[in-house]
Amino acid sequence: MPEGASLGDPKLKAESARKAFEQEFERFARFRAGVSAESGLTLNSAEALERELSELRTRHTGKKSELASVKKLIGRVAPEERASFGQLVQQIEAEITRGVEEAEAALLAFINDARRERERIDVTLPGRRPRRGHIHPVTLVRERIEDIFVSLGYIVEDDREIETDFYNFTALNIPENHPARDPLDTFYTTTGLALRSQTSTVQIHAMQRRGVPVRMIAPGRVFRRDTPDATHNPMFFQVEGLCVDRGITMAHLKGTITEFVHRMFGPETRTRFRPSYFPFTEPSAEVDYSCFKCGGRGCRICKGSGWIELGGSGMVHPNVLSAVGVDAEEFTGFAFGLGIDRMCGLMYSLDDIRLLFENDVRFLEQFN
Ligand code: DAH
Repeated sequence: MPEGASLGDPKLKAESARKAFEQEFERFARFRAGVSAESGLTLNSAEALERELSELRTRHTGKKSELASVKKLIGRVAPEERASFGQLVQQIEAEITRGVEEAEAALLAFINDARRERERIDVTLPGRRPRRGHIHPVTLVRERIEDIFVSLGYIVEDDREIETDFYNFTALNIPENHPARDPLDTFYTTTGLALRSQTSTVQIHAMQRRGVPVRMIAPGRVFRRDTPDATHNPMFFQVEGLCVDRGITMAHLKGTITEFVHRMFGPETRTRFRPSYFPFTEPSAEVDYSCFKCGGRGCRICKGSGWIELGGSGMVHPNVLSAVGVDAEEFTGFAFGLGIDRMCGLMYSLDDIRLLFENDVRFLEQFN
């Protein structure tokens, strides 16, 4: 059998490969001259086209392509036709490659531009304003208290909220059988540590750390097993104050507290000291101040009495000084403890103290 007979017509086969390519390539041909911004293409559709084009190239020039089998015929056609057939095949392959490459280059250029455009940042655009927070009302009041005492020469101490028995009770002269030690009043960890039930613990830490003389205040959280209601929360804030030096008397305590309420609530504010009892002070006193709202005539805020409770105070008990190795013959001092949230609640006329701890922005925003 003559060689050429089994090949069919190689030129026809070559032409058929070219046709098949041209048919499929038709939808890409328009991109050869470049893809303009007006082409209507999106980044996504251009990326999809580019993928399809690359598959198309494999289909028409790859190992299993029609063109590949046509190329295999070059060595098998009659020698006198080989040169022209080879040229034809080469030409077809060059056409396919050039067409695909031009369209691909144009698509890639478009894709690149579109990606850059998408990622571009317009630095002249007005910024988006982050929603600004603001200071919590309890913090506002705490900072005002701190400012007043700092200006009186006090340092601000911070300390731990979980305490041993020694700091929470023993060093503060609270006896073994005192009800405050009862787990019904104080939160205990399973290992027997207490969540501090008063900031008075910091008196002990401060004197141990700094020795005496000392003038310090210690604002912070305290914890008690109270059932929450409009005036109670199991976690609340106190400020402790401590002043120990030679020759400190009750007059210093009265003068200091009076100066504080003048600066906090106005110079017309009066104070009142009522005898009281605390294990860590002797003598002890409850301090009231004249109502900032009605000036003492009686109103809703002070429940008609004209007075508002500020907190407890007294002269530091010698046993407390001894517990930290301070000579109670040489040094005396006064101490006080105020409730911040209660003061905050009154100053802002809150009918429920729990509002301060619910973190409802509709409430908190009012203090902006
Ligand atoms: N620790 C007391 C309480 O939580 C308040 C207090 C009273 C503190 C008298 C003092 C003080 O420093 O001298 O109720």
